[in-house]
Amino acid sequence: MTDTTCIDGRHVVLVGMMGVGKSTVGRLLAKRLDRELIDSDRMIEERTGRTVREIFETDGEDAFRRLETEALLAGLARSAPAVIAAAGGVVVRAENRTALTDDASYVVWLSASVDVLTQRVVNGAHRPLLDDDPRAALERLDAVRNPLYREVADGIVSVVSRSPNDVVQAVMRCCA
Ligand code: S3P
Repeated sequence: MTDTTCIDGRHVVLVGMMGVGKSTVGRLLAKRLDRELIDSDRMIEERTGRTVREIFETDGEDAFRRLETEALLAGLARSAPAVIAAAGGVVVRAENRTALTDDASYVVWLSASVDVLTQRVVNGAHRPLLDDDPRAALERLDAVRNPLYREVADGIVSVVSRSPNDVVQAVMRCCA
């Protein structure tokens, strides 16, 4: 049994770029830790009854970012420690970064190169930002967000050449 002292009583929040595997790893990690998985995109869709794409297309990105903040704060406010798979853009707003650096959560940045991310972002249904030229968009977002992920991260785990289960193992070691 891996020791997970660092996360006792704290949420584990997975952050990182689109396509890095936050939802898949989050699901496996939640099972492993016997915790609830909170997926911020899914929470937004449940709360609004609309898809991420519909919100982007009808109300615009700023409106989506406000909903994203509400979902993140609602997840972090849960009393039972959970695993939170936070959507890629969650680090963009300063308010979210402040909430993430609180002691109540342990933030793990799942990282990968833009080459790897480009190969992985096959399902674009909830990713309107990648509609036109996924590689160019990922390059642009990666440059802006890397320092922000670093700012909030308590630990960094590379997903390159690792299966989702291997990533879970690495996250567990990172939380020890
Ligand atoms: C976004 C990431 C997406 C989704 C939306 C915007 C981003 O979630 O919230 O398309 O700005 O990085 P995933 O990171 O789960 O793909």
